[in-house]
Parts: sequence; C-alpha cells; structure tokens
Amino acid sequence: MNAIAAIILAAGKGTRMKSNLVKVMHDLAGAPLITYPVNAARRAGASRMVVVIGHQAETVQSHYAGQEDMAFALQAEQNGTGHAVACAAPLLREFQGKVLILCGDVPLITEQTLSGMVLQHGQHGAAVTVLTTEVGNPHGYGRILKNEAGHVTGIVEEKDATGEQRDIREINSGIYCVESGFLFDAVAGLSRDNAQGEYYLTDIIRMAAERGLTCISHHAADAREVMGINDRVQLAEAEAVLRRRINENHMREGVTLRDPNTAYLDPGTVIGRDTVIHPQVHVSGNSVLGEGCVIEPSVVIRNCRIGNGVTVKAGSVLEGAVVHDAVSIGPMAHLRPGTELLDEVRIGNFVETKKIVMGKGSKASHLTYLGDASIGSGVNIGCGTITCNYDGVAKHRTIIGDNVFVGSDVQLVAPVTVGSNSLIAAGSTVTRDVPADSLAIARSQQVNKEGWVKERAQGTRRKAQD
Ligand code: UD1
Ligand code: CA
Repeated sequence: MNAIAAIILAAGKGTRMKSNLVKVMHDLAGAPLITYPVNAARRAGASRMVVVIGHQAETVQSHYAGQEDMAFALQAEQNGTGHAVACAAPLLREFQGKVLILCGDVPLITEQTLSGMVLQHGQHGAAVTVLTTEVGNPHGYGRILKNEAGHVTGIVEEKDATGEQRDIREINSGIYCVESGFLFDAVAGLSRDNAQGEYYLTDIIRMAAERGLTCISHHAADAREVMGINDRVQLAEAEAVLRRRINENHMREGVTLRDPNTAYLDPGTVIGRDTVIHPQVHVSGNSVLGEGCVIEPSVVIRNCRIGNGVTVKAGSVLEGAVVHDAVSIGPMAHLRPGTELLDEVRIGNFVETKKIVMGKGSKASHLTYLGDASIGSGVNIGCGTITCNYDGVAKHRTIIGDNVFVGSDVQLVAPVTVGSNSLIAAGSTVTRDVPADSLAIARSQQVNKEGWVKERAQGTRRKAQD
C-alpha cells in the first residue's frame, strides 16, 4: 500500500512565545510556521493532511481555506499527543496506508528525510518508524529505548525516565511513520497513567513491540531538522537556517548574492540566472525575478513579476508591480500595486506609481506621481509632474498617448486625455483634453516690471505703486 496521509499536531498554544497569536501561525521566513511541515509532508507524497487544531483553531483553518487536501480535527483540550492523534482518527477512518505524524512547530524537517524514513519503514515491514537523532543535551525529549537487535522497544519521557534512561542521548523527534491500521487501534487504547497524566503517543511503540510488530528508528543526520520552536529565540534560529538553505539554493542555480547573510528571499521567490542581489534586499510574496537583473542595496520587492535585465537601484520599494525587460527603476522609487512597466521604461528617483501602464521606452526621471494612468510609448514625463487623480471623492484616469513630451512641473487634472505627439509646456495645469500633435500651455502670463527693484532701493517708488 503506497498511500500516505499526514497528521500535523498543532493544537498547543505555545505559551513560551508570549504572544496573542497561536504559535504555529507565527511568521517564519515569510510564511506561517505550520506551512513548513505541511509542505514537507506534501512533497514526501502525503496526499491527505489532517491538522489537529485547538488554540485559535479558526486562524489556522482559515489560512488553508479552499485547499482540498487539508482537513482539520478539533482537539478542544490538549490531553497529550496520543489524544491529538485520536482526534484526527475519525477523519482518516477509511484510509489505509502509511500515516506520517509531524509537529506543527518543527519546521526544518525536509522532504528528503521524510522520504528516507518512509522508504526504510517499507523495507523493514515496520509498524512504526520513529525519526530520531542524537543531541548533546537530551533534556526535555523522550528517550529511545532499543533492544540488542537495534529495534525500538519504547520511548520514555523525561519526567518518567529513570536516571539511567536520562543518560540516553538518542531522542524522539516527535515525527513518525505508522501503519494506519495499527495506529488508530493503538491510540484508541492509550491510558494516561504517567507523570504528566497525558495520553502519550509514544506509548504506541511499547504496544507495537508487545504485539510482536516491528518498530525501528530512522536517523536524522542533521539534528537541526527536528528542532522544535518553543520561543522567539528558536524562531529566529530556525529562520536563519531556512534563509541559509534558500540562499544556497539560489546561488547553486546561478544567482549571485553579494552577501548571503543579508539577502532576505522568501521561500516562494523565483530568481533567474546571473541576477545579482546586493546586501539588505528583501523579496517576498511569490515574486519572480528574471535573468541578468541587478537589485541594488536596500530594495524591497513584494508580489512582483520582473523581467530580464532589469536594474532596481538602491532604496526602491516595489509592490504588486509587473516590470518587463530592460527597465531601470530608482534610486528611491516606489512602485505600488497595479503598476506595469513595458520594456526599457526608466523610472528615476522619488517617483511614485500606482495603477499605471507605461509603454515601451517611456521615462519619468525625477520627482513625480503617476496614478490611475495609461501612458503610451516614447513618452517623457518631466520632473515634478503630478497626475491629480483624486478629487476628494473619486479617482479619475489620465490617458497619455505615444511620444508625448510633458514638461516639468505639470499637473494633469484627471479625467484628462493628452493626444499622441503633443507637448505640454512646463508649469502647466492641464484641465482639458489636449488634441494630438498640439502644444498645450496652461499657466498665467509672466509680467516683467522693469526697474522695479532699483526704484525700491532708491526710495523713489511710491506706496500706491506696487
Ligand atoms: C513530545 C514527545 C517526546 C518528543 C517531543 C519532541 C510525547 C508524549 N512526547 O513531547 O517524546 O521528544 O515531542 O518535540 O509525545 N500537541 C497537540 N495536542 C496535545 C499535545 C501536543 O496537538 O494534546 C502538539 C503540540 O502543539 C506540538 C506537538 O504536539 O506541536 C508536540 O507537543 P509537545 O507538548 O511539544 O511535546 P511533548 O509532549 O513535550
Ligand atoms: Ca507536553
């Protein structure tokens, strides 16, 4: 039977986080803690997932709304890990196969380790395989008891262990692969006759051994993989490990990270070859960056699609933008959601854009706000241009045709359309549409009063004169 299901234990509150938010929903490298074990189980072949929830059940459940392979079992009172699995059992009643059991707060577990465990489990015809590792200080963990044949005969919790058992350094990770038939039968028969008065999942090992079933251990070579998160210090430690993994993957795939310690690239991030990421860059929210881009220091990119050969200069913030090839942005530019920049667009310093499309080769080089606008190709937007898109009640659109030259310090009071090839004189406040191929000047006439300053200095100017 090759079917694999997974049970993720996540009912605990996580008291040591000292938080109003349930532990498994804390952000780790851009995604809630629980998503890591869930995804590792999925990648290892689990086609069905039951998450055992208790504290802030709705918060966890709503994160997975609409995901077909996810089901939720409520454990109203946390009476132990065995009780938690018993709560999940009704949702897997008709399931036959292997059940992976993971903890929602053990995020560094990899697909490879889980797959290795499943394989070894099958090869040995085991009823239970427990993932173990050796640690320098086993305090707090369940200790692995084995017979001469190397089979696991039991797991003893810290509080129930004898002095001798406490010296055992091989510990229970809390991650298992168990045959479904045995598992659900066993958890139904657990007792809470132990130091903590809890239903211990670990007791299923002794039960299996007593029934003559095979229990083995699978060894996790890297103890960090089974590190549980209990407080924010451990959360930060796990984040550092995860970031290192992500960054090393990108580097192996041809991305240059000038300082891998300060590249904050979330797990969903895709980056093309020969792209260079400078220090202190943050990329999040399933952003995609093309090949041969340069992302300068202190750039923030969220939910963006960026083409090839794009340069994003220092200090720029890009959110929800689509950027085509060979575009240059910044320094200190702000692209807001709904921005689409076609090939070879140039956005300079202190330029903010929102809900605009800018055609091929168009430029806004300095100090400009462009919102709710459609801008053609080959357009030059002068320094200090503002699309006045908001009248205090509603937003209006500005439409600018191809090859328009907008002089400096122009206000385009929307709704307004500027036809192709037109020129808007510097300092204009444009309130009416401009036809194609036209010059628009909308500013007050200049008056020169010759000699005025000199007369004032000489006191020859009368008060009534201005
Ligand atoms: C458990 C193991 C221990 C192992 C350790 C690894 C048992 C009895 N002991 O310890 O051998 O070394 O994990 O971390 O299983 N949970 C629930 N409902 C409950 C209790 C726990 O959902 O009623 C969840 C928690 O949210 C957590 C996970 O199960 O995600 C482990 O619980 P925790 O209390 O940390 O583990 P221990 O019982 O201390
Ligand atoms: Ca406990």
